[in-house]
Amino acid sequence: MPPTLTLYGYGKMALAIAKGLSGRFPLEITGRNPQKIEELIALHGLNASPLFPHDSPLDITDRHLLLCVKPYALSELSFSGEAKGVYSILAGVSIERLREKIPAQSYIRAMPNMAASLGSSCTALCGDESLKALASEIFAPLGTSLWLDKESKIDAATALAGSGPAYLALMAEALMDAGVREGLSREESKALTQGLFSGFADLLEDRHPALIKEEVTSPGGTTAEALALLESKGLRGILIEAVRAALLKAKKL
Ligand SMILES: NC(=O)c1ccc[n+]([C@@H]2O[C@H](COP(=O)([O-])OP(=O)(O)OC[C@H]3O[C@@H](n4cnc5c(N)ncnc54)[C@H](OP(=O)(O)O)[C@@H]3O)[C@@H](O)[C@H]2O)c1
Repeated sequence: MPPTLTLYGYGKMALAIAKGLSGRFPLEITGRNPQKIEELIALHGLNASPLFPHDSPLDITDRHLLLCVKPYALSELSFSGEAKGVYSILAGVSIERLREKIPAQSYIRAMPNMAASLGSSCTALCGDESLKALASEIFAPLGTSLWLDKESKIDAATALAGSGPAYLALMAEALMDAGVREGLSREESKALTQGLFSGFADLLEDRHPALIKEEVTSPGGTTAEALALLESKGLRGILIEAVRAALLKAKKL
């Protein structure tokens, strides 16, 4: 019998997780606003019970708590009792800080991304080995997962893959605009960009980016011209620095 999971929060990530878990685990949803808890369950037909925070602090004795609130909200939450497990998706919040705030036997940090809503996230996980198997099961409906051997790596995973959809969204939007600039209709440009990204995901499964680049780039051809321009403008360095900036911010949260 799978354990009951208590989801704290009803935002975008909580919804993605709740949809994935509904029907697979007994599920409770809690948060500071009872109306929003009820709306989340009713609007999305979730197989979940509301857990209204009548008392503060919330009694978490023997519960498995999935924390899906904003990182800054942690300091405002209060709990009593000792949970069996805490699973936190909060960017930049260390296990040490979780331990100070939420008494529990074991802790897991997880870093999914927005593709979780489509079951296509690659979720980075780290924490107590005793919860590794259960954590992998909990996050399985969101896509694949990757267990990190050290907590220190999770900020890098956040900067790369947690924020990653925003970097790729910026590129997709720019490419759509570029297509329109060169005479394609908005719809044509959007369809071609969508096809480019979904086909590229399959290519990347199959081969290294350097090989893909080599195969597309004929000597003296069009792609070589575009690549030379992107390199001269420093696209590669910009992306590397952007991930560093996100990582430094995650460490300050
Ligand atoms: N979005 C992503 O792509 C992504 C990826 C990886 C990890 N994360 C992490 O996921 C977490 C949630 O992000 P999200 O995108 O789902 O945000 P969101 O849609 O804005 O939802 C935020 C949630 O936090 C709750 N909250 C905020 N302040 C609170 C407080 N003081 N006390 C209690 N609850 C409070 C909100 O409840 P109210 O409506 O009552 O304020 C809501 O349930 C964040 O910690 C983020 O670091 C997000």
